[in-house]
Amino acid sequence: MAEQSSPGELKGLVLAGGKGTRLRPFTYTGAKQLVPIANKPILFHAIEQLAASGITDLGIVVGDTKKQIVEAVGDGSRFGVSVTYIDQSAPLGIAHAVRIAEPFLGDSPFILFLGDNFLKEGIASYVEQFRSGEYNSLVLLSPVDDPRSFGIAELDGERLVRVIEKPAQPPSNMAVIGIYFFDANVFDAIRQIEPSPRGELEITDTIQKLIDSGCSVRADVIKDRWIDTGKHDDLLEANHLFLEDLTPALMGRHDEASQIQGRVVLEEGAEVVNSRIQGPAIIGERTRIVNSYVGPFTSIYHDCLVADTEISGSVVLENTRIEQVGHRIEHSLIGKNVELKGHERRPHGYALILGDFSKLHLP
Ligand code: TTP
Repeated sequence: MAEQSSPGELKGLVLAGGKGTRLRPFTYTGAKQLVPIANKPILFHAIEQLAASGITDLGIVVGDTKKQIVEAVGDGSRFGVSVTYIDQSAPLGIAHAVRIAEPFLGDSPFILFLGDNFLKEGIASYVEQFRSGEYNSLVLLSPVDDPRSFGIAELDGERLVRVIEKPAQPPSNMAVIGIYFFDANVFDAIRQIEPSPRGELEITDTIQKLIDSGCSVRADVIKDRWIDTGKHDDLLEANHLFLEDLTPALMGRHDEASQIQGRVVLEEGAEVVNSRIQGPAIIGERTRIVNSYVGPFTSIYHDCLVADTEISGSVVLENTRIEQVGHRIEHSLIGKNVELKGHERRPHGYALILGDFSKLHLP
């Protein structure tokens, strides 16, 4: 095993740059890490999990969407953490983001958390494990159905011996997920790797280099669900997963004609008029639901209007208006500032992915 770098306090490095091409059109106007899951930006879930594990010194790597990230997270004090922003000039890879964070990380061991990853169970037990362990790196794994599409681990007991990116013949179905622990040996490994054919410094190459240079790299399989929210369906799935454990809270108002059933959150200033909300569901700040039905596993973000419409199993981002849509909206992801308006005569079966500022006037 390579000599461990000085133990120091465990720091956190959260990546919130990148291109977000797979999540277009949402990422044309916003950072993908700020898309809400259960009405809370994905990035906030990550920061809260880090804070809950006692990791309070955070570096956040930012790119083109820096302004929005800084506006949303600020100095981190409201999460009980201190945040240092690290500018990445271009999305040149996850290992590149780690490399440019070296001045912030120094000799400290750290957890690398991809800002669009969602781990329902939290990370506290893994943080504890790495803190008390004697190895240079801990890599978290999760079983996947299609190992040919992921970075896949080859294991010898708990030891990671090889990571293969999108293997034609996978040695296991264990994918490397977006949460890793390293000590300062990682910087030497990064200095020795070359950009991959897609032009990025890859974290899988980095881990392989660590293994090859004699560092001990341990792997642990997570117990609960992991979701990389990089794609549309994944976002809906993460929303579903989170709402399963929703704690009801009625801060907003509803009139007597309305029914609130199951676990429902009405955020501050939300208003429900002559409608039925069937939880688990969450209605955002200042959002109005009028003459409508909101079904299970729906999150409607702030400042929206849903009138004369049925919607279920969907996520709606802020400041969107949905009115008189005759057919129930299901399994849909609807962006910011969208205007969706129907008439009485209607077609069947809408399955919508509507980008920010869309205007769809249905026949
Ligand atoms: P990815 O999802 O691998 O990449 P991406 O954000 O460019 O998305 P897409 O593939 O859809 O174009 O990135 C994982 C996380 O790491 C995400 O939160 C963005 C962040 N990231 C950086 O901060 N810098 C980088 O150079 C890269 C590649 C990713």
